[in-house]
Amino acid sequence: MGVRLNRVTVSYGKRGGASALADVSLEFRPGEMVGVLGRSGAGKTTLIRCINALVRATSGTVEVNGRSLAGLGARELREVRSRIGMVFQQFGLVPRTTALTNVLLGAIGQRPAWRNAVGYFDAEERARALAALEAVELGGLGSRRVDQLSGGQQQRVAIARALMQRPSVLLGDEPVSSLDPVTSRGILELFARIHAEDPRRITVVNLHDPELALAYCTRIIGLREGRVVFDGPPDAVDASARLAIYGG
Ligand SMILES: Nc1ncnc2c1ncn2[C@@H]1O[C@H](COP(=O)(O)OP(=O)(O)OP(=O)(O)O)[C@@H](O)[C@H]1O
Ligand SMILES: [Mg+2]
Repeated sequence: MGVRLNRVTVSYGKRGGASALADVSLEFRPGEMVGVLGRSGAGKTTLIRCINALVRATSGTVEVNGRSLAGLGARELREVRSRIGMVFQQFGLVPRTTALTNVLLGAIGQRPAWRNAVGYFDAEERARALAALEAVELGGLGSRRVDQLSGGQQQRVAIARALMQRPSVLLGDEPVSSLDPVTSRGILELFARIHAEDPRRITVVNLHDPELALAYCTRIIGLREGRVVFDGPPDAVDASARLAIYGG
């Protein structure tokens, strides 16, 4: 179980060009909260997007919960993805729609297609969506349109939507980079709390701010030019590790 990348290379362009990920082998185990650090262009987003097959490995394999993503058909892929929550920098909410509806939409990957076609959410789903909004401390704002929420509140809605999936893997691609420092800490705290609620959950989050990663993550991966240049606990991130990740 868990997430395993085995010699993954991702090249977006022609052969011979630099690879966004170059021969990356990593295993994320249940319970880990992983912070991915690196300069702009280091491959952080590419790594995150490999885990839910938004980006395909040019070579190597990605396994989630024991299943290789490469061989999956559309239906199986949908099934695997339905348990992978994703939170983006720009929130990715459906505008002009209420917070509650946005959270409910997190459930649709796990419903039979005919139920999505009817556009109906049952009582159990509504109760779970309300609980997810409570969990992100937006209990009173379910009926508010998301475009009338602050950035931090919108990101909380996005997290509640991910929670609706009861994710075994929770991914965040720079989830706080459009938020102020205080709000950012609040969102990371929320990630950490949600992470801890399920001892088997794997959380992987890209962060520009290394201090946030060190404060909340249990494991740090440093990427540089598509390669893993650091992998260890937060307290092992010393000056030489910082230099390897960010320096010169
Ligand atoms: N869709 C794409 N097509 C071509 N090249 C891409 C594409 N996406 C990313 N790249 C390239 O792949 C490399 C890694 O990009 P990636 O987005 O993974 O970096 P990142 O670490 O997330 O950077 P940032 O911190 O700026 O978000 C970069 O050189 C980038 O230009
Ligand atoms: Mg990125």
